[in-house]
Amino acid sequence: MRMPDGHGHLMVFSGNANRPLASAIASELGTSLSAATVSAFRDGETQVLIHDDLRGHDVFVVQPTSPPVNHNLVELLIMLDAFRRSGAARRTAVIPYYGYARQERRVTPQEPISARLVADLLTAAGADQVVTMDLSAGAIEGFFDLPVEHLQAAPVLARAFAGVSPADVVIVAPDIGAVKRAEAFQRLVAPGAPVAVVFKERPAPDRVAVSEMVGEVRGRHAILIDDIISTGGTLLGAVEMVLARGARSASAAATHGVFAPGALEALEASPLERIVVTDTIPVEPRGRLEVVSVASLFARAIARIHGVPAAEREAAPAS
Ligand code: R5P
Repeated sequence: MRMPDGHGHLMVFSGNANRPLASAIASELGTSLSAATVSAFRDGETQVLIHDDLRGHDVFVVQPTSPPVNHNLVELLIMLDAFRRSGAARRTAVIPYYGYARQERRVTPQEPISARLVADLLTAAGADQVVTMDLSAGAIEGFFDLPVEHLQAAPVLARAFAGVSPADVVIVAPDIGAVKRAEAFQRLVAPGAPVAVVFKERPAPDRVAVSEMVGEVRGRHAILIDDIISTGGTLLGAVEMVLARGARSASAAATHGVFAPGALEALEASPLERIVVTDTIPVEPRGRLEVVSVASLFARAIARIHGVPAAEREAAPAS
């Protein structure tokens, strides 16, 4: 694919974080992944060698900063640096899952704002723009002085629940931060169905305590919607709450299946009937875990960006 504004050919690269998704995106764009070796020296330092000629071209690199977070982040930074030094006309970091997004504000004065630091690192490494999906906090877009394309997985997740009846279901936000997401999901999946909200607290990092719920779930199939499943604690607490309040069943949908060690096992041992996640982070479907692909959403965004001159995007950064 060739850009109309002189940014050359579209080239798609992948680090090691999610090569299957990167390949699927490239294939949707009618191309294949460009050649690079992303490996490590024996002491563990990341080594990147680009094999294709990038000079004057429009380069995209697909790399979620998912676990191992620091390793994947450094791969991405070093790839961007390699692109810049190799003369790419424009460099876009496609980050399907943006790690450190949950550390976007300080609760005490002694804390870092890690999400901002990551944005600064990406800019310093040479990113001209960023494409990402379902940031834990939308405010992170503002941490960049670059154009940020912020995609939503809701249409893809909603397709997994196509055909449910608004009379039978309730859409549940498993915490207050998920309310807008739940409302958007309700409009796509079951317009008119009720939305309920569970209130949670975090007594310690990675620990969840559920305190209350607002909304009626009795006699309905509950569909819980969240951006991230990490330890699974948020979902497990919400499932317990909705079933205790009389829901007939519970299923869950989330964009990013981070799945900290032990999370999948705990979710599979829970009463959840279905757990639907996307492939922003690589995970194999198993048992009640279903994986839906967001490759076409990213491919469409890349095609759109490739077709729009950089100057126009800079004039209207957010989408
Ligand atoms: C923030 O709270 C997020 O929206 C998720 O609810 C959270 O990251 C899920 O984490 P966990 O699975 O560890 O409860």
